[in-house]
Amino acid sequence: MGVIARMRLRATRWRIVLGLTSLTMGISSGMAQAADLPAALAKAETCIACHGATGVSQMPETPSLAGQPESFLQWQLVYFRSGTRKSAVMQPLAAGLTDDDVRVLSKHFASMVPPPRATASGDQAMYTVGLKLAQQNRCASCHKEDYSGAQAAPRTANQREDYLLKALRDFKAGKRTGGGVAAMADVVYPLADDQLRALANFMAQYH
Ligand code: HEC
Ligand code: HEC
Repeated sequence: MGVIARMRLRATRWRIVLGLTSLTMGISSGMAQAADLPAALAKAETCIACHGATGVSQMPETPSLAGQPESFLQWQLVYFRSGTRKSAVMQPLAAGLTDDDVRVLSKHFASMVPPPRATASGDQAMYTVGLKLAQQNRCASCHKEDYSGAQAAPRTANQREDYLLKALRDFKAGKRTGGGVAAMADVVYPLADDQLRALANFMAQYH
């Protein structure tokens, strides 16, 4: 089997796994009771200090949450809460979230308008290298053709460039663990740091 065929098979397998896990996950969307809404939404006030009032982050190495797939947000909050995903900042915050909070907060940020296209940083050549690498590595097979994300795979289109780079480096270094990690660790393992920078540059300015 050729490399492309193998990658395609792997991507298909992942899509199936991601689809199934979001179905079987205890925390499904739309189940929160109306009575839980005010309490959970009050907690969103804490989040916007770093993730931005509109879910678009102005803070270095801090991701925008607006327009992320709802199930991706749920998963990440659960990973932080269980300590599967490490973050000195997010772990203590997530520790105080109930399942209802996770549902309501995820729905809240998922429904916000996704971040606008970032202002260009770096040169056009870097963007073009990133675009080609994304095609060669079939990033869109999981993140969708428009990089808007699906199920457990995040939106990467117009995410902050510094955060994208941090995430890619964390996957490569084995620092970020969670659920879809085997997928991302496989993808970034053969890539060099300048290739990670080009990919982050491309995705941050996706249009
Ligand atoms: C003090 C700043 C701060 C606050 C407050 C904060 N966050 Fe975060 N959040 C971060 C940082 C920094 C990261 C990136 C962690 C990493 O990868 O190292 C993050 C990551 C996340 C992620 C993962 C997103 C992704 O694209 O991987 C989610 C989801 C999230 N935060 C939700 C929330 C929610 C919900 C709240 C409110 C209950 C909140 N955050 C409050 C700083 C903050
Ligand atoms: C086989 C499916 C798959 C492929 C192919 C794939 N990804 Fe991912 N990616 C995922 C999943 C699933 C996650 C969430 C991982 C987790 O739970 O922490 C993710 C997370 C990410 C993140 C972290 C974003 C955030 O908000 O935290 C970045 C950046 C990323 N991928 C970029 C890429 C790039 C660039 C490529 C191509 C070089 C790629 N991905 C290929 C499935 C995939």
